[in-house]
Amino acid sequence: MDKIVIEGGARLEGDIEVLGAKNAALPIQCAALLGDGASTLHHVPQLTDVHTMNRLLEGLGCTTASPEGQPRTVRIDPRGVAEGALEAPYERVKTMRASVTVMGPLVARYGRARVSLPGGCAIGARPIDQHLKGLEALGAEVTLEHGYVDVVAPREGLRGSDFVFDKVTVGGTQNLMMAASLARGHSRLENVAREPEVQDLAVFLNKMGAKVRGAGTSVIEIDGVDTLHGIEHAILPDRIEAGTFLVAAAITGGDVLLKNAPVDHMHAVIAKAQEAGVECTVEREGLRVVGPDRLGPIDVTTRPHPGFPTDMQAQIMVLATQADGQSLITETIFENRFMHVPELNRLGADIVVNGNAAVVRGKSAFSGTTVMATDLRASASLVIAGLIAEGRTEVRRIYHVDRGYEALEARLRPLGARIERYHGARG
Ligand code: EPZ
Repeated sequence: MDKIVIEGGARLEGDIEVLGAKNAALPIQCAALLGDGASTLHHVPQLTDVHTMNRLLEGLGCTTASPEGQPRTVRIDPRGVAEGALEAPYERVKTMRASVTVMGPLVARYGRARVSLPGGCAIGARPIDQHLKGLEALGAEVTLEHGYVDVVAPREGLRGSDFVFDKVTVGGTQNLMMAASLARGHSRLENVAREPEVQDLAVFLNKMGAKVRGAGTSVIEIDGVDTLHGIEHAILPDRIEAGTFLVAAAITGGDVLLKNAPVDHMHAVIAKAQEAGVECTVEREGLRVVGPDRLGPIDVTTRPHPGFPTDMQAQIMVLATQADGQSLITETIFENRFMHVPELNRLGADIVVNGNAAVVRGKSAFSGTTVMATDLRASASLVIAGLIAEGRTEVRRIYHVDRGYEALEARLRPLGARIERYHGARG
């Protein structure tokens, strides 16, 4: 397995391009299943999860291709989807939970879907009860057996319905938006997720010919249509990747321009960084981040958008370890998303976890050692922690990083980071 090795101490300076958002690309790849023709996606990041989703779509009968020399353009043609093989198998779903967002499109367009239950993952149980309850509200029949869920539409197809989510779920909102777009009649979805990636999916669906209104608010109204068409679409920039680079610049006392950063989707993160003393300035090309000589402590609670994103919790914790004073970080979205804490403490942090709250006592001097990545955002936080550790830090199992960050080490190096990837290292 690959590892990333960092020689800490470098101050990051220069420009870095923020790429397309993984969490917008994945549901939009699924939405391409709804079209009666091929869709072409631009600004698609080259990530393991995106490739996994393309393989899953191919397993359903789609063809996916990138034009020569344009790896971040992906053309998905759903016209080969066979009536019978509408299955997302365990092998695929266990490696990537986002596979479950093929359910809505498959049952709406082809009448049925058979999807392996995702099972838990490192950060929590992550059930899909809300997805299934919502699809049943649209008239689908849901049966669970042998670790798979079968979702079958009525012979006359799904019908629009009102549905109130018991809890806010990004994937659940996305599955129902896609299913309701081809259902007969009107749907009113309440207590929906407001994430920018939900809004980007609505833009994509409406370009296909859907009638989706209210994305970005807590109520989405959809009037079903008979057919949706293949279109072209550019994936929006990744607010979590941008936030990750923001923290890296801040803790190294750097001066970095995050080109193309989606500032309007980053208000909670920017506000917290500024509260800690980080200089964040909107410029024509993006967001300029200047790290201060001294960082102050902050209290952070993760919330659904527009609150502070759970996907930035591990990264802001690294910033808190460099603040003078005590910070409190509370995770309210996932039940087990503090696995980066023991690894950060091995680098020299002083963090104590009590239930879903972590008390971070700074400022800690980090000294390099070998650390283990456990999940996507935790692994990114270990890489940026290595940037400020004295000496050499080795981050193992960085396949987690590659799920959500394209060539992270190669893109940090031009900013001055002393960072290398070693292929095939002992895991
Ligand atoms: C999306 O996951 C993101 N993934 C996650 O990013 C992100 O952390 C999460 O939203 C929250 O913002 C993608 O978009 C591909 P949820 P999703 O359904 O949709 C519970 C990353 O690092 N829940 O909003 O799976 C669930 O267990 C990844 O890029 C139910 O109880 O998240 C969790 O506690 C990690 N029942 C909470 O809701 C359900 O039916 C939020 O989950 C669905 C969810």
